[in-house]
Amino acid sequence: MRAADIADDLTTVLVTEEQIHARLAELGQQVTEDYDGKELVLVGVLKGAVMVMADFMRALPKHVTMDWMAVSSYGASTKSSGVVQIRKDLDIDLADKHVLIVEDIIDSGLTLAWLLENFESRGAASIEVLALLRKPDAMKVEINSRYVGFDIPSDFVVGYGLDYDERYRNLRDVAVLAPHVYS
Ligand code: XMP
Ligand code: MG
Repeated sequence: MRAADIADDLTTVLVTEEQIHARLAELGQQVTEDYDGKELVLVGVLKGAVMVMADFMRALPKHVTMDWMAVSSYGASTKSSGVVQIRKDLDIDLADKHVLIVEDIIDSGLTLAWLLENFESRGAASIEVLALLRKPDAMKVEINSRYVGFDIPSDFVVGYGLDYDERYRNLRDVAVLAPHVYS
């Protein structure tokens, strides 16, 4: 669906589908240069990263493999609890692999901090992060993410895979959720 279809639920469109695709193409070029001669494993974080993964991996001109992990720290709330739970673990062994974690958003950064530590203990050759969105003013821990799509304000956003209580994932753009929806 498009922002105009659910205009009452949104305050502002922050990033359009077209801007996302253009930015992912740029990041795809950058990643291709950086990983020249190396085999890359993309690890997506379910469910928010499904759209980013689908569009980003198709922007790459070389073979990559893909795996998924499901963690949860939010539930039907708009604030991170900091408590991360594995709901689905990876299928592949990360030992000696060059891993790029594909994330929808870095908000407090707590989820990624936990994931980075977890992946390091599995013996990957390298681990980097690609996040479509980042909220610099909301970060509670320093996350070294090499590839970031867009820096955005600290408002709760939905769309392009991001949900509020499992809804809005199929919105094409990224938009700020109107406070009346969750208050
Ligand atoms: P943290 O705070 O740990 O974020 O960096 C962890 C996960 O929470 C989700 N998240 C959001 N989901 N709108 C959403 O729909 C948001 O503004 C938002 N901020 C965080 C997201 O899945 C992220 O990976
Ligand atoms: Mg979520």
